[in-house]
Amino acid sequence: QVAAASGHTVVLVDQSDDILKKSKKGIEESLKRLTKKKFADKPEAGAEFIEKTLKNLTTNTDALSVVHSTDLVIEAIVENPEIKNELFKRLDKFAPEHTIFASNTSSLQITQLANSTTRQDRFGGLHFFNPVPLMKLVEVIKTPMTSQKTFESLMEFSKAVGKSPVSCKDTPGFIVNRLLVPYMLEAVRLFERGDASKEDIDVAMKLGAGYPMGPFELLDYVGLDTSKYIIDGWHSLEPNNPLFAPSPLLNKLVKEKKLGKKTGEGFYKY
Ligand code: 3HC
Repeated sequence: QVAAASGHTVVLVDQSDDILKKSKKGIEESLKRLTKKKFADKPEAGAEFIEKTLKNLTTNTDALSVVHSTDLVIEAIVENPEIKNELFKRLDKFAPEHTIFASNTSSLQITQLANSTTRQDRFGGLHFFNPVPLMKLVEVIKTPMTSQKTFESLMEFSKAVGKSPVSCKDTPGFIVNRLLVPYMLEAVRLFERGDASKEDIDVAMKLGAGYPMGPFELLDYVGLDTSKYIIDGWHSLEPNNPLFAPSPLLNKLVKEKKLGKKTGEGFYKY
């Protein structure tokens, strides 16, 4: 959405036409919300902006058939290293020489993903934040093998889509998630110990620390499955780090398919 809205030609790829239809509808709704505010007294300009953005966006279920005409691939599939590596390996064979590959991974090592391709110098991290149309930040990750030219292209692309990039080395969680995920897990542990209710913890962090959402609201918003993948991955890297300890309550909710807002229930009901 943000790439198309800033004039880039985008092909959105997913596994089925049904998912793509849903995604496109979500993008249309988000664009309507944004234009309502941005073009409050110019509804015609708003309608034109939506039309132009949607013209820049096509969808496809076959990544290999579209990758030959792309300059940049941004991968944002399931947070599973084997599945990501398999995808990158296949795309690498069909993408042009100059094409840069980037992963939007929340927590996996970019270096390890880059190693599944033959273009380690044209590979980096581009980490966006939910909800992407509103959150201004992008973390740009340079591995020891990412070329300076690739890094600069990723920084430039981030600015071209209207974001403020920051850079970070290829370390677990980069900047934001390295601080945010242990904080959210600490909130779950506080609740698990029975020290305070989840409602009070959320109110406390909103009114006492000025956060726009409390940790339980944010966990539901990000997705409990995604949060669990992140913490499990780090726990396997550093089993003795108490900040990365798995949470029985989080595991229970994921097992019950209560994944947060997207499934209608997580810590809260929607
Ligand atoms: N598209 C377009 N507009 C949207 C939108 C979307 N997806 N989501 C919300 N909006 C708009 C609303 O329409 C509303 O517009 P209005 O002011 O004209 O009515 C405006 O944004 C404010 O929305 P709400 O009134 O519904 O709610 P808030 O004032 O609470 O704002 C929020 C919503 C911006 C999401 C705010 O709560 C927030 O900043 N929350 C924290 C988000 C955060 O921490 N994100 C990072 C998560 S971590 C992550 O993503 C990393 C990953 O790797 C795990």
